[in-house]
Amino acid sequence: MEKQKVLVTGGAGFIGGNFVQFMLNKYPNYEIYNLDLLTYAGDLTKHRELENKSNYHFVKADISDRKTIMSLFEKEKFDYVIHFAAESHVDRSITNPEIFVLTNVLGTQVLLDAAKQHNIIKFVHVSTDEVYGELDFDPTLFFTEETPLQPNSPYSASKASSDLLVRAYYETYKLPVNITRCSNNYGPYHFPEKLIPLTISRVVNDQRVPVYGDGKNIRDWLHVIDHCAAIDLVLHKGKNGEVYNIGGHNEKTNLEVVKTIIETLGKPENLIEFVEDRLGHDKRYAIDPTKLEQLGWKPTYNFETGMAQTIQWYLDNKEWWEQIISGEYQRYFDKQYRI
Ligand code: NAD
Ligand code: DAU
Repeated sequence: MEKQKVLVTGGAGFIGGNFVQFMLNKYPNYEIYNLDLLTYAGDLTKHRELENKSNYHFVKADISDRKTIMSLFEKEKFDYVIHFAAESHVDRSITNPEIFVLTNVLGTQVLLDAAKQHNIIKFVHVSTDEVYGELDFDPTLFFTEETPLQPNSPYSASKASSDLLVRAYYETYKLPVNITRCSNNYGPYHFPEKLIPLTISRVVNDQRVPVYGDGKNIRDWLHVIDHCAAIDLVLHKGKNGEVYNIGGHNEKTNLEVVKTIIETLGKPENLIEFVEDRLGHDKRYAIDPTKLEQLGWKPTYNFETGMAQTIQWYLDNKEWWEQIISGEYQRYFDKQYRI
């Protein structure tokens, strides 16, 4: 088998981190380069066991630093690029949109330019269902790849902007790209600012859980490993220039998610605290994954098995999230919630 050079951006974060490990397990002959700035959301402790692997390399760099990115591509001559690096939290984009434009839009454009100058086989841009905006509560409505882009938050607007640049590099320069748009992920190493890990970490410690508005907003949850498998499929089998939606039909209200966690951990429901709603809070996301299923993908977890595994992982890996929720995170939490 040929030795392929694979650049994963954002491989110190939640999904990119899982993807790096997934790829090293599945393709022992691939050289994996994890490029990450190590912002508040990135950490390398999750990759301790990879440190001595000769086919794993870490590069600390900012994707919007053109000079560094250009010289890295010149030196390493990557075959594949899988682009996860981003500012990813909607609440942070509401309080500080600028960094979302710099990282998500400019950073993506720098990577596209670098890829264009070299003979890469594929550039997979990891995007989100949030670029489609929101759906009504009518359960027959789903996001398809043809749904118009109508992003509502600064985060989703920055992701939609990067999607349009990726599309333009295909149309204009024939850069071999794919865009994937996934629903909400959950699983190991999910940063505890997001609903599921935030709830687990607080409920374990008998602390109150902030639920926005009436808790009836709906998200479509997918286990991170099913997302990794989907990206792997698109990387190797996706038709150039195409968009693929990824989702497993696991729609839940936020209240259902929080109650599942509380019940599994055997804690009382009065830990739930309804707080002021998120500004511009999207009502519902729900993916139609037919196109990806036709390419050969199907999820392996349902919500019940995935959540049971995830909650157990957080119980078994307390030291990982406890070092995060101390210090800077605590200041973020107090400012964001005041509960
Ligand atoms: P995350 O916040 O956990 O990780 C982001 C990573 O990017 C971090 O390691 C961070 O250090 C790195 N990073 C940030 N700015 C950087 C920069 N300028 N240069 C280099 N590295 C930088 O995010 P995540 O939840 O793993 O999401 C990964 C990608 O998947 C994002 O593009 C996101 O939009 C997309 N996505 C996420 C979800 C989800 O549910 N989490 C769903 C669909 C799509
Ligand atoms: O849909 C894919 C997107 O999913 C990704 O593109 C984003 O990167 C990812 O962060 C996620 O965005 P959401 O905004 O849907 O995820 P979050 O975990 O922040 O919130 C999930 C739902 O829970 C949402 O309706 C808001 C609500 N919520 C969230 C937090 C953090 C609460 O009620 N309380 C909270 O404290």
